Amino acid sequence: MTELKNDRFLNALLKQPVDRTPIWMMRQAGRYLPEYRASRKDAGSFMDLCKNEQFACDVTLQPLERYPLDAAILFSDILTIPDAMGLGLYFETGEGPKFKKVIRTAEEVQSLSVVNTKSDLNYVLKAVSTIRHELNGRVPLIGFSGSPWTLATYMVEGGSSKDFRHVKGMMYAQPEVMHQLLDVLADSVIDYLNAQIDAGAQAVQIFDTWGGVLSHNAYQTFSLKYMQKIVNGLNRERNGVKIPVILFTKGAGQWLESMAETGCDALGLDWTTDIGQARARVGKQVALQGNMDPSVLYASPERIREEVQTILTSYGKGTGHVFNLGHGIHQFVDPEHAKAFIEAVVELSPAFHLAD
Ligand code: CP3
Repeated sequence: MTELKNDRFLNALLKQPVDRTPIWMMRQAGRYLPEYRASRKDAGSFMDLCKNEQFACDVTLQPLERYPLDAAILFSDILTIPDAMGLGLYFETGEGPKFKKVIRTAEEVQSLSVVNTKSDLNYVLKAVSTIRHELNGRVPLIGFSGSPWTLATYMVEGGSSKDFRHVKGMMYAQPEVMHQLLDVLADSVIDYLNAQIDAGAQAVQIFDTWGGVLSHNAYQTFSLKYMQKIVNGLNRERNGVKIPVILFTKGAGQWLESMAETGCDALGLDWTTDIGQARARVGKQVALQGNMDPSVLYASPERIREEVQTILTSYGKGTGHVFNLGHGIHQFVDPEHAKAFIEAVVELSPAFHLAD
């Protein structure tokens, strides 16, 4: 195995000392980059980008060519699992993801089986090993998956939703059917992430984009319970090296304590939570990742820098912070503003890691 030349990201997640706060951006490979749009055109479609390991590798590396980022994230999508379950994922321009088949009845849930990543999602594993090879130890590679609840929202709604009518309807009217669906998904995610770890992913993040639309009780029962099952089922070490696990539920500011109790290594925070207060609540148990509002990137580089300083100051001195946005970077952001953001973290954060 090639030696890792930049281990800031992994060290911060494990709360080991670092020289500065590491940074990566959710959705760092994406439509705000003209080189991404060119690759997507060459590949033909978004799914063609994901399914061809050389394209997936090229776009993973694009943001690293531009910016001093401390981690790469596998280029793929959370919806590869339902696609492998036979739902037929497709993207219509400007409309987000859609499925040819939806899951709405007990019979439809019973017809699903746990994915076998090595046979059904081998293209993702090929992408992971190609990217690891081309990174050559430059920065660590993050693998990822959607949470069972978030995957279920897309599978039951058939795509994106504003009111979650069908999925919440199923949850309240037929809770046992919903639990059966979430169980198949949790077992699939465990297989998927362990296979990514085997193929070379050095940390993993679970994206629970829609956990925040649930009530307090429903979040614990229908989202967190299944992320707990995943945390318990993951291989947390490979060749004697720890594989940190990051849980990100958007809109979960009030649930950080119960998320930390799962035994994960880090929590991703959206921008609605003050990171200093989050540290006071759960900072002894977990590292924190986040949490600048992605919309700050529409403001001037000076304004972006001020916001970076505010977040660094709020977290305070010492390790355990991975800088990130509070959600994915928007497609209309000027790449020069993303650069100003990342450079501000590189320049301003060393002061927070000096010995007293
Ligand atoms: O972070 C990265 O750079 C890695 C790649 C990545 C993508 N999707 C690429 C992508 C990751 C980590 C995801 C996760 C994902 N996908 C989530 C969870 C994170 C989040 O944002 O909350 C969700 C909910 C999805 C489902 C999904 N995929 C949606 C809703 C969309 C449409 C988004 C939009 O802005 O239109 C996608 C498509 C998608 N996934 C794109 C990219 C770069 C845009 C596709 C394109 O080129 O048109």
